[in-house]
Amino acid sequence: MSPETKKITIAIDGYSSCGKSTLAKALARELGYIFIDSGAMYRAITLYSFRKNLVGTDFMDQEKIIASLDDIELHFEFNPLSSKLEIILNGENVEKEIRTLQISQLVSQVSSIKEVRKKLVSEQRKIGRKGGVVMDGRDIGSVVFPHAELKLFITADPMVRAERRFLELDDPSLSMQDVLQNLQQRDHIDSTRKESPLVKTEDAIVIDNSFLTPDEQLQKALELVADRIPAEK
Ligand code: DC
Repeated sequence: MSPETKKITIAIDGYSSCGKSTLAKALARELGYIFIDSGAMYRAITLYSFRKNLVGTDFMDQEKIIASLDDIELHFEFNPLSSKLEIILNGENVEKEIRTLQISQLVSQVSSIKEVRKKLVSEQRKIGRKGGVVMDGRDIGSVVFPHAELKLFITADPMVRAERRFLELDDPSLSMQDVLQNLQQRDHIDSTRKESPLVKTEDAIVIDNSFLTPDEQLQKALELVADRIPAEK
């Protein structure tokens, strides 16, 4: 692709652990775009709140979380070892700490707070204002970039998703059932919450990847991208 080729915005939404990030990362690499994992931003605010004892298994101090939002600085930095942008929370790389099941169990609650969403949506729009970005999440096509040139909605069978996540977590203290339960809980909260729930917008294209390899999924998405990039004169 020549440097003059118009850089589009690609929004990827879908349920938890259905391969959105894998696809978004691969697409960004192929196209020379930046990949932003918006879930990492929600997870980082959840981690901050958890460390300050503002959220736990059976409580959440919404007012205090809102009051501390101005103290939370988030940005992404490229890590040459992992070849990806990693999330920095108040100067600390927390890419690993945000992925534990504990944080996964709390993140849907924290991300249902309106003020949390307002802060992150504004930061996500800033990052993507020049195009050339692939962002994955739950509200990217519906709220963050409603005018994205390409919107994908990724789905996969819940058992397939739980199995993939289980293997990824590689934690002997967890059972498949724990992981499946967490996914189902998050699906429920994410798609029924009042503030920007997960929805498939009318213009989004559905990819069910239950029986697709990551590469087959990528090829499908690349064909859709090619349709949307204006031909060079
Ligand atoms: O993509 P993920 O599983 O890492 O996201 C973690 C949680 O963050 C997810 O359960 C809901 C929330 N989230 C959100 O509400 N909006 C987004 N754009 C991205 C994630």
